Amino acid sequence: MKFFLDTANLDEIRNAAELGLLDGVTTNPSLIAKEGAKFEKRIVEICEIVQGPVSAEVTSRDVHSMCRQGHELSKLHPWVVVKTPTTKDGLRAARCLIKDGIKINSTLCFSSSQALLVAKIGASFVSPFVGRLDDISHDGMNLIREIVTIYRNYGFKTQVLAASIRHPLHVVEAAKAGADIVTMPYKVFEQLFQHPLTDKGQDQFLKDWERVKSVVT
Ligand code: G3P
Repeated sequence: MKFFLDTANLDEIRNAAELGLLDGVTTNPSLIAKEGAKFEKRIVEICEIVQGPVSAEVTSRDVHSMCRQGHELSKLHPWVVVKTPTTKDGLRAARCLIKDGIKINSTLCFSSSQALLVAKIGASFVSPFVGRLDDISHDGMNLIREIVTIYRNYGFKTQVLAASIRHPLHVVEAAKAGADIVTMPYKVFEQLFQHPLTDKGQDQFLKDWERVKSVVT
């Protein structure tokens, strides 16, 4: 399973990359706005750190503008993947970009029927939003399970990128469901490491080691 960070914060990206655990990054307009960074410049900076797929989102509803912006984004860096919305026009724009050899991440996917369309047009990634479905009392993880099943049934090559991840259990459940990738906020990435019994056990071992060291014969 590949790990992506869902952030536009360079320190967070560097920290995960240094651990050798970062396979890619997803951004969206909200995440870039949070950083107060210039959009294009930030995307290039992220690509240079990650050396893996970096999703950059188009910001228009109109097919022609999405297509034009997608082309511009794809020229920023070879690692850029263009994020288009899973709407009818978003899929039209995605199709025209795919024809020109540009990789697409179809975002804001909330149903298996949408995911089926995304695979049929040959997108590289589909991003089902788990947390936002949970927020409205729908089982977000069930969507991941359904999409993985459907894609396997037909051998679709589109990778399932579990998004809108809110806690470590989402990561584990997405792995159990067979998602190809999980994109998570840095906070969730940090939480993956934590276990109180690991800390307690290590404290005890180190304390006991002090006693071992003082034994002379
Ligand atoms: O990758 C999609 C993600 O940015 C949405 O997450 O937490 O805003 O639902 P969230």
